[in-house]
Amino acid sequence: MKAHENQQPRNIRQPSHVRSFTSKLKSLIFYLSPIVILFLAISLSFTKSNHFKIHLLKFSLTTNPTFFQSILRFFLQTQTPNPISKPSYCVLWMAPFLSGGGYSSESWSYILALNEHVKNPRFKMAIAQHGDLESLQFWEGLPQRMRNLAVELHKTNCRINETIVICHSEPGAWYPPLFKTVPCPPTGYGNSLSVIGRTMFETDRVSPNHVVRCNRMDFVWVPTDFHVSTFVQSGVDPAKVVKIVQPVDVNFFDPLKYRPIDLAVIGEQVLGVRNQDLSSKEFVFLSVFKWEYRKGWDVLLKAYLEEFSNADRVALYLLTNPYHSDRDFGNKIVNFVEGSNIEKPVDGWAPIYVIDTHVPQIDLPQMYKAADAFVLPSRGEGWGRPLVEAMAMSLPVIATNWSGPIEYLTEENSYPLPVDRMSEVTEGPFEGHFWAEPSVDKLRALMRQVMSNAEEAKAKGRKAREDMIQRFSPEKVAGIVADHINNIIDNKI
Ligand SMILES: *[C@@H]1O[C@H](CO)[C@@H](O)[C@H](O)[C@H]1NC(C)=O
Ligand SMILES: *[C@@H]1O[C@H](CO)[C@@H](O)[C@H](O)[C@H]1NC(C)=O
Repeated sequence: MKAHENQQPRNIRQPSHVRSFTSKLKSLIFYLSPIVILFLAISLSFTKSNHFKIHLLKFSLTTNPTFFQSILRFFLQTQTPNPISKPSYCVLWMAPFLSGGGYSSESWSYILALNEHVKNPRFKMAIAQHGDLESLQFWEGLPQRMRNLAVELHKTNCRINETIVICHSEPGAWYPPLFKTVPCPPTGYGNSLSVIGRTMFETDRVSPNHVVRCNRMDFVWVPTDFHVSTFVQSGVDPAKVVKIVQPVDVNFFDPLKYRPIDLAVIGEQVLGVRNQDLSSKEFVFLSVFKWEYRKGWDVLLKAYLEEFSNADRVALYLLTNPYHSDRDFGNKIVNFVEGSNIEKPVDGWAPIYVIDTHVPQIDLPQMYKAADAFVLPSRGEGWGRPLVEAMAMSLPVIATNWSGPIEYLTEENSYPLPVDRMSEVTEGPFEGHFWAEPSVDKLRALMRQVMSNAEEAKAKGRKAREDMIQRFSPEKVAGIVADHINNIIDNKI
């Protein structure tokens, strides 16, 4: 979300092998050419895999349409006079569709919801990659129907003056971008029907340079009331800030449709002793997060290890992946425990397992299904995607009662974790902002409570799924988004 915050604007060199290709197109794409060159430059400098480069180079030589070709075509077509069928209004959603990560899955969830649930729309949908690098692994891991939809939506023909552009990314990617990316809106402000920025932050405020960027937009969509208030308090024009909640695929994340995955097979044990007694299953806590301080993994480890011992028949599974760090999570955990003042229980440590292999989206429901409770004591969240997924899977959830998740955490549907105090962020792009310090003692008590009161935990899990269906089903959220877009169109005609 903010991986690029510190990057400076830079000049994009045009690779020589691109030059001959683009020169042929020059007459067609005069004012869009910087974008096309930029795009090619980015894609060709993508170093992760040669396969990818070859793929891209091939596309400039063949007529076989590829996804990336269709991204290009989108821009080219805005210049060619094609007959335009009804409806002529267009929503161009620009987001890191090909990157994986938070904004990526969020943008997919909107596109899928709109595609499926808006009947007789007054607008066409188009999408374009923007805001982050492409990941070939992510693209190849997507279900075929999503890939097909992406290619289809890239071919949509739009007139820029009839297009509502949605820039779904961190504001540093908005026109003019602070790092290498296709700009959004593509041609700057003022050409399109309306421009909407969709973003969110995990701290108590919005940085001044981001406030300026937000105020260039016609609207700023944020997911929660928490963001409405932090954005407005930071200086974003209140008339522009609109709450648009995020969908969760309650049909995909449906506990009745899955059997639990065998966690013991995929989890690597880093502390404690594996449960050998197959006659009684241990109580499984699951947490899903990127390995960063913000996620409060230190709070979780401390609470869990202080509260439980090997005699408690519990297990903690951490599904994690690196965030600007290596993946040696076992050592990180052991070092943390050795460097802390947590006393080893006489019965031995309660076991901790790490799953750091790539778990494809398609296998996530089985992971949740294998857990008895979900726990995430973050210091701040934008939305908290794993939380709503776990709730849709009817899991009792323990999560910090601050920032984005207060939009949906209640005493009836979860275990909101009280905050001890606010603390200053000491590093990274949000240095000087504040976020929450969740209470270790309260977390201990809640983990004990969820484990000891099975009926209460089940009831909260049931209510959690009901609330997710009621408020955030794709159908519901597609309706909210379509209403807002229709209002914009109505106000322009
Ligand atoms: C957009 O521009 C085209 C011509 O460039 C024009 O025919 C069309 O009416 C315009 N649409 C709107 C909504 O102004
Ligand atoms: C959670 O926070 C809300 C305010 O955002 C507060 O009203 C509520 O009492 C809190 N719940 C708990 C359990 O701390």
